[in-house]
Amino acid sequence: MTKLSPEIVSRVKEEADITEVVGHYLTLKRSGRNWKALCPFHNEKTPSFTVTPDKGIFHCFGCGIGGDAISFLMKIENTSFPEAVAKLAESMGLTITYTREESREAHLRRRMLQINSLATSFCQRCLGDEEKGKPGRAFLESRRLAPETIKTFLLVYCPTGYGLRDYLRREGFRDEEIKSAGLNFNGRVTFPILNLSGECIGFGARSIDNREPKYLNTGETPVFQKGGILYGLNLARRAVQEKKRLLLVEGYLDLIKVYQAGFPNVAATLGTALTPRQAGYIHRFTDRVLLLYDGDQAGRKAALRNLEVMLDEELEPEVALLPEDADPDSFLDRFGSEALDKLLKEAVNPLLFKLRELSGGRRPGNGQEKTAIAREVMTLLLASPSPLKRSEYLSSLAEELGLPETDLRAEFQHIQRRQNRFRPAGTPAEPATLDAQELKKGIIQAEQIIL
Ligand code: UTP
Ligand code: MN
Repeated sequence: MTKLSPEIVSRVKEEADITEVVGHYLTLKRSGRNWKALCPFHNEKTPSFTVTPDKGIFHCFGCGIGGDAISFLMKIENTSFPEAVAKLAESMGLTITYTREESREAHLRRRMLQINSLATSFCQRCLGDEEKGKPGRAFLESRRLAPETIKTFLLVYCPTGYGLRDYLRREGFRDEEIKSAGLNFNGRVTFPILNLSGECIGFGARSIDNREPKYLNTGETPVFQKGGILYGLNLARRAVQEKKRLLLVEGYLDLIKVYQAGFPNVAATLGTALTPRQAGYIHRFTDRVLLLYDGDQAGRKAALRNLEVMLDEELEPEVALLPEDADPDSFLDRFGSEALDKLLKEAVNPLLFKLRELSGGRRPGNGQEKTAIAREVMTLLLASPSPLKRSEYLSSLAEELGLPETDLRAEFQHIQRRQNRFRPAGTPAEPATLDAQELKKGIIQAEQIIL
């Protein structure tokens, strides 16, 4: 008899989206932070069945029934616990694992988390060492990080020869275990990366003497997958729920500086494109994301790419526009937190951001040019599913371009129809998940054929 591994059970518990699971069976209506529906487990006329996404639970105030996504599925499908977990795992795209093969992996994971945690506290002591810690402290000070901030983010430093390896050996770790943890601290200021449970799963180590590469990151390990983590989210989650918005930045130092400046609802993508899995994490805490990326060309390009991923994942992104030569960190150094606050208030929606990108900040001239740009900008909306949002975006674009809103709407419907015509036969008219990339390809094809 095989048994589900504890890892798959806890991943399903942690990652299942209760709203999605329940929404599959019931019609949910938003009610503040919660969702409401008619209770499927007793007869009622007014909805007292409540889903609380923040906590991942449901509760019926009528009949008192309640639980998490797994117990909901067990009750509504009348299945066993393992069946419910397996079904959820499958729908979440997780590979179901069983105890026998898992125990080795679980062991590796546990050992690695231990190494990471011990290494962090050891190197924290090193940073505090009067002599040996000096270069690390000097760097952090030069980046204007307060001692309190350094503590909050568990920032560490460890020069070569400080004895980290010997220390871990003494703690009973084998050389290959130490090696596979990828502790690239040598003379670098290091940022431990914590998951949502507060476990240290990896590190980013920044050179402080212009040695390349600037950052050495933990490679993929049993506990660290880059596409599945947002740096700082463990600290930000509460503030994100309170402020109902996440600020998303690119780098370690950007994140820490923004946090320090009094914006605790911030997480970082660590220089890579946002993955659907990361977007899913965000979704658990909020729908609204404000991108705060470098103002240079690379940063703006990354922002645009992430906007598409977010729209695809049904998030509501906005973009704050930093000056060309600034990242959030340097912006704060130069202009301070009030200026950042002002900048955040002036954030624009995805369409207006793309418009700025395409027109290079210059006002599009004649009608023809405007229409061409509007068309290209509106392709962003093919992925955005909410009609209300879509409508809001279209009016702002119309206003910005000085085009009649009705014309833009008609034009957008035209794009949609063309898109639909080039969908392969047999796919539904409004597929639930449209891949923005695919759609764009379709539009280009359509345009070519029409020409
Ligand atoms: P940046 O080059 O913008 O670095 O890369 P930064 O975070 O602003 O650092 P400072 O201000 O120069 O000290 C943004 C992010 O991209 C990843 C890191 O996560 C970094 O924070 N990155 C960058 C790497 O992983 N490796 C690199 O060599 C460079
Ligand atoms: Mn920087």
